[in-house]
Amino acid sequence: MNPSPKPPHQNAALPDFWDTRYRNGAIPWDGGGVPRELAAFVERQAALRRTLIPGCGSAYEARLLAEQGWPVTALDFSAAAAEAARATLGPHAHCVQQADFFDFLVAQPFGLIYERAFLCALPRKLWPAWGARVASLLEEGGLLAGYFFFSDEPKGPPFGIAPDALFDLLAPHFERTVDLPAADSIPAFRGRERWQVWRRKPMENR
Ligand SMILES: C[S@@+](CC[C@H](N)C(=O)[O-])C[C@H]1O[C@@H](n2cnc3c(N)ncnc32)[C@H](O)[C@@H]1O
Repeated sequence: MNPSPKPPHQNAALPDFWDTRYRNGAIPWDGGGVPRELAAFVERQAALRRTLIPGCGSAYEARLLAEQGWPVTALDFSAAAAEAARATLGPHAHCVQQADFFDFLVAQPFGLIYERAFLCALPRKLWPAWGARVASLLEEGGLLAGYFFFSDEPKGPPFGIAPDALFDLLAPHFERTVDLPAADSIPAFRGRERWQVWRRKPMENR
């Protein structure tokens, strides 16, 4: 359904928008590999975490995790992005699921949700639903880790967020444990992207 006056391929809330861009190779957000902070984070973990990567795109990060034996779901609602993810994952292509983040069925909560260029792909009116959904998908003590794009430019995608707005979205369910500038952002995000880790609060503290 497209209740917006925009045609589907111009509405970032719909898969057509992303299909068009993946099929045309117009994907400037694609970093082509695993960002530095994520690689270091994975190395530091004492145990594997059941991981969700929403809006996975080409899914380089999912390949890293799958190769290390992590149970990972690389999720994307665009058929073209899911195809790209399967190609990246090769023998681990079964980790890719083509579905909408907001209503796919979940058998078991996750221990980690990895964020990169997904929140900023969502029109801002979807952000409260994103905050509630990440909280509901994570087990207590589970982590939301990844990259957040900060900008006050009204137009997007990417739709930048203000630090206070991100805090307001997440603080009811999470405490932030890490907040660092990103070391190797792509040019479009450089200087405006931070690596953050948020821990889901225990039920009684939420
Ligand atoms: C800007 S791209 C980022 C892709 C990847 N995370 C990266 O860093 O290269 C945003 C991705 O989110 C996907 N996406 C947007 N809304 C979605 C939704 N509601 N459910 C699942 N995927 C979604 C798009 O299809 C697209 O592949």
